[in-house]
Amino acid sequence: MKAVQISPKVYWVGAIDWNLRDFHGYATDRGTTYNAYLILGEKPTLIDTVKKAFYPEMLTRIQSVIDPQKIEIIISNHAEMDHSGALCQAVADMNPKEVYASAMGVKNLTAQLHPAFEIKTVKTGDKIDIGGDTLSFVEARMLHWPDSMLAYLEKEDILFTNDVFGMHLATSKLFDDENDEQIWIQEAKKYYANIVLPYSDIVTRFLGQVQQMGLSPKVIAPDHGFIWRKDPSKIVGLYAQFAAQKPTNKAVLVYDTMWGSTEKMAFAIADGLRQGGTTVQLMSMHTCHRSDVVTQLLDAGAILVGTPVLNSNIFPAMADVLCYLKGLKKKNLIGAAFGSYGWNGAPIDSVTKILEEMGIEIVSPSVKSLFVPDQPKLQECEDLGKLVNQKLTEKVK
Ligand code: FEO
Repeated sequence: MKAVQISPKVYWVGAIDWNLRDFHGYATDRGTTYNAYLILGEKPTLIDTVKKAFYPEMLTRIQSVIDPQKIEIIISNHAEMDHSGALCQAVADMNPKEVYASAMGVKNLTAQLHPAFEIKTVKTGDKIDIGGDTLSFVEARMLHWPDSMLAYLEKEDILFTNDVFGMHLATSKLFDDENDEQIWIQEAKKYYANIVLPYSDIVTRFLGQVQQMGLSPKVIAPDHGFIWRKDPSKIVGLYAQFAAQKPTNKAVLVYDTMWGSTEKMAFAIADGLRQGGTTVQLMSMHTCHRSDVVTQLLDAGAILVGTPVLNSNIFPAMADVLCYLKGLKKKNLIGAAFGSYGWNGAPIDSVTKILEEMGIEIVSPSVKSLFVPDQPKLQECEDLGKLVNQKLTEKVK
């Protein structure tokens, strides 16, 4: 396990988590990396650490290029434990002269790690002389935690962005030009939808701020996935696009079913949508993961939610995905609810209320079927699909 050189003085010393399949509720089908970076200046500096269990891997990589006890400075750009989990052990082993974080970073690291060492505060515009080069800092509050911060290595022109511009993708190929674009675009989209989406307005402001500062780094080095050395503007451009949440003529139809009735309704709605030309993504929660639903919603313009009623309640799988989506606050959606019930249809109407609370423009009262939908009920569903198609077409033109 060797360090990988990414510029004359900078090495990647992170860890690859090939087996991670769940990141606090987000299905990470391709694993992830926890990137840490070592700057071999006159004052050797470590940018971020890794998840606690991966400390031996990081340490081995550091040892391949330097005695870890020569590290003088550690920067913690973000307090979440996939980057700070190994910080206490690193400080104990390396005994650096200084550890730095943002003010919120100091607060959050203290509350999580209860460290026995001092963490100094840096803020936007502050600079640290690391001997032969300078690190400057840009706070990125709520991208995606209050403590999030970026560090810029001036002479080497590398921006260390922590979670920002990252993706959950375990890869032994550490650079953008070595990875399959079709795969990484999908993973970048999934990462944005599941981690960054609620902070899209902040992303837009932040990208403007970075532009105003004249920051256009040669290399962007995030803490997940690979390093952008060939064309960092690609991921910056994608973030601007994702943050805009411009609706397209695409509807996500998410549902579950007990005895097939709600599914019959879903298929009829899909038919109505398709007849008008809307692209339909049907997602049964029997087979799809909540994190894939929000990924599909990122560029969609409509959501239709179908639930059966179980014990006078929303079906549990649907309550799960609705709770997840509510937190991620996707904007610019129209929608409606539908479903089958036996003797109490009220829970289907409560889905409409939840969609309203999420800021979704409701285009129709919920469509409810007593047990199995008959032909007139299926026609009602198809008409709902046609109505959503019509509204969506007006919205996106
Ligand atoms: Fe990769 Fe917010 O931690």
